[in-house]
Amino acid sequence: MPTAMSVFVVLAATGAFFFATTRGALLVRALSSGKQAADAHVYPIYSNMRLIRLIDFQPIIAAILLFQYDRLVSIITHGMSRMDLRGKKALITSCAFGNVMPRVTGAAVKGGAEQVQVVDIIENELINARRKMPEFADKLAFYKQDATSVTLPDASVDANVVFFLLHELPHPLKNVVLTEAVRVLAPGGKLFLAEFHRPNVRLLRALSWTYFKVFEPLGLALWSTHDPLEALKAMPGIASVERRTVFFGNFQVVVATKAA
Ligand SMILES: C[S@@+](CC[C@H](N)C(=O)[O-])C[C@H]1O[C@@H](n2cnc3c(N)ncnc32)[C@H](O)[C@@H]1O
Repeated sequence: MPTAMSVFVVLAATGAFFFATTRGALLVRALSSGKQAADAHVYPIYSNMRLIRLIDFQPIIAAILLFQYDRLVSIITHGMSRMDLRGKKALITSCAFGNVMPRVTGAAVKGGAEQVQVVDIIENELINARRKMPEFADKLAFYKQDATSVTLPDASVDANVVFFLLHELPHPLKNVVLTEAVRVLAPGGKLFLAEFHRPNVRLLRALSWTYFKVFEPLGLALWSTHDPLEALKAMPGIASVERRTVFFGNFQVVVATKAA
């Protein structure tokens, strides 16, 4: 009994901590501020350096993605390894915790990329990302920019990786980010997008639905009205879009290829 109680207390405290540093903070922010800033939807866990350092720890991040993190990143890096990136540029649209950024950068550099660009709306995330990849310092360029309106030229990157950004964005911004991600892609270039997906097992779907309702209500639309596969298929200039789902459909990697 004491063990069960301890487990319950730890789980409840962890849930309360994540609620306070994600959706809870956004609710307070919405009540207290007037005009909404461009980064008003960004959780404190991505803007406060102490929280970033506390949470950006591989086992925590792997657990949040139900231990599918490694598999999802591998799908992306495997796809990149089949591209000829010699003398070309890759882009990471928004930072992410864990080792996805070093692994994607490593895959791009191994494939011959001359530069990997990183865009994020939060300066502290860029500082943290730079700290995680000292071995690639001469290949990296960091830009503090909003993914809805990046200043990178049209058709300037051959691979663009968007890792679990869409589900955190207000709905009107989801398609804008996808449009920007495609705009900067060179002919024949590929967009790799990892995200949550509607699980095909009823129990997991119910648990996932509850998670989104409590912590990340902007994510549920990916199951229906804001399916990234459908949004990308409808975009002009896209030659093909493929989706791979993993873990009973709970996660997806969508790969969109721009017409050559
Ligand atoms: C990619 S998402 C979440 C990733 C995932 N949950 C993880 O493991 O870290 C979080 C990142 O997106 C960034 N971000 C959110 N909105 C953005 C925007 N409009 N433009 C650029 N970056 C944005 C945040 O600053 C943060 O670094």
